[in-house]
Amino acid sequence: MLISGSGTNLQALLDAQGSVLPGGSVVAVGSDRPDAYGLTRAEQRNVPTFVVSPKDFSDREAWNKALLEKVSEYRPDLIVCAGLMRILGKDFVTAWRNRIVNTHPALLPSFPGAHGVRDALAYGVKVTGVTVHLIDEGVDTGPILAQATVDVREDDNEDTLHERIKEVERDLLVTTVTRLVGSLWRVEGRLVKYEEQREVS
Ligand code: GRF
Repeated sequence: MLISGSGTNLQALLDAQGSVLPGGSVVAVGSDRPDAYGLTRAEQRNVPTFVVSPKDFSDREAWNKALLEKVSEYRPDLIVCAGLMRILGKDFVTAWRNRIVNTHPALLPSFPGAHGVRDALAYGVKVTGVTVHLIDEGVDTGPILAQATVDVREDDNEDTLHERIKEVERDLLVTTVTRLVGSLWRVEGRLVKYEEQREVS
């Protein structure tokens, strides 16, 4: 999993291991930020962690290459970005095409980018939510795996709304990753088609 922050989505997946996520496990947690609390959450569960910080590289491309190498060492079936506040480069996306999952705190294609909650609130929408999707070369433009809605309240600010979105987001991420882990699936255009149950041990 790749994270930048507090890692409550990561925690939900760690907690789901062995129950709703049978046969799936988080093999490593990486971050662009050494101070991301999610790294501590992983360490508490004895999950290997790594940091690939952009500060240690001359440019974005070099950082992206180093991240790709590091992630690939763990040979994951899926890469789950949960709160990773960086754009993955073309080489990364190509190497792991259709196997990188992202969670975004808005109903895509509305309000992509780093401020999905703030932008939805400022626009005045009455319903927003969360989108779990595959990452492609664009910003929050890949095929959608799952969405769930959250009502906006009149007294909401960015923090209160984001907290309610995150409650829904954690469940949706666990459900969606569980389905991917237990299925064979393929992507046709913008659509993700599930084929059959995969044997998981
Ligand atoms: C999530 O809402 C994610 O969609 C957004 O940042 C938040 C990360 O939360 N990009 P956490 O670090 O999993 O608690």
